[in-house]
Amino acid sequence: MIENGVWADEAWGQVHRKVTRTSARIGARFPHASVEGSYVMEAAHWWTAGFWPGLLWLLYGDEASKSDSYREIAEDCERQLDEVIIGYDRLDHDIGFMWTLTSVARYKLLGDEQSRRRALLAANLLCGRFNVKGRYIRAWNPWGEGQRNEGLAIIDCMMNLPLLYWASETTGDPRYKHLAMAHADTVLEHFVRADGSINHIVEFDAETGEKLTVHGGQGYAPESAWSRGTSWAIYGMALSHRYTGEARYLEAAKRAAHFFFANLPEDSVPVWDFRIPEAVTPYRDSSAGACAACGLLAIAEAVPAPEAELYRQAGERILRSLYENYGAWNDEAEEGLVLHGTSHFPAQQNVDVPLIYGDYFFVEGLAKLRGSRLSFW
Ligand code: GLY
Repeated sequence: MIENGVWADEAWGQVHRKVTRTSARIGARFPHASVEGSYVMEAAHWWTAGFWPGLLWLLYGDEASKSDSYREIAEDCERQLDEVIIGYDRLDHDIGFMWTLTSVARYKLLGDEQSRRRALLAANLLCGRFNVKGRYIRAWNPWGEGQRNEGLAIIDCMMNLPLLYWASETTGDPRYKHLAMAHADTVLEHFVRADGSINHIVEFDAETGEKLTVHGGQGYAPESAWSRGTSWAIYGMALSHRYTGEARYLEAAKRAAHFFFANLPEDSVPVWDFRIPEAVTPYRDSSAGACAACGLLAIAEAVPAPEAELYRQAGERILRSLYENYGAWNDEAEEGLVLHGTSHFPAQQNVDVPLIYGDYFFVEGLAKLRGSRLSFW
């Protein structure tokens, strides 16, 4: 057991050591899930494309791990996304994840004007997905010939809104923020349940805006509680509050946070869905834990002192458990930083493996615990 206060520094050193090694193989590509020890790459248009460069920017932003090699890889990844933005067809609402952790990150760290322009272009495309009648951002384009999904919105989109808030701040034009808040208010109305659990997918009539139904998506069932969806809500609502100061977003972040930590197992790392029948394997989703921890640390920054400590400690507890119980620090045959993530249990895709967004949020949470004031969101 590592002494209090020292563990996060030690963890940072482990991350830096490991990423020095893995970045030599992965380079400027787009890892998603580590299968049998090696990260499998996705195409640049996949929603996870920002996490690897984002993780490298986090390391670059800290004097203890600053490396030109990290910067060069992250810049190369960002350039490759230009084809995706011009290609247009494969874009979806995850434009936010993708360009926040590449272009906004680089702009915030280095002031690069080309990165700022890229991020603004991405923000404008994200605005183009807004359904005025239903006041939601459309999640995806049709996946196949004849498929209709213009009425679908998903909780994950809460993490795409910071790109819009940032766009308003950097341009002085409030339209982006207004649109983000309209979507966040729809989420408050139709996604955040009274007990703090969260709907994954809500379907609207795209013509009239009327709410039609709820889908289980990556959770076990429509009425279950997908843990990563809860973490997207915790962090996304906390960020909406950070940018707008609106108490209703902070209240929703807290409600989801209390549901989350009331349902954690003993080691503080969630099962992939908090409401599965006994017969279903309770695989963990370490990525949900890492993202929720960042959300809890964000709530801690928004509330007064005695309350803040509750959220800070809850976030630290999760991150410390990930480090001590889920890390693969001495395993040279494993590229992932954090084991036991679950990407999509119902589709049986990438179950019980390291996931790049789990790694990213783990490193972001560590940076915060070590006193970093940097936020790409
Ligand atoms: N945004 C997709 C997921 O959380 O898996």
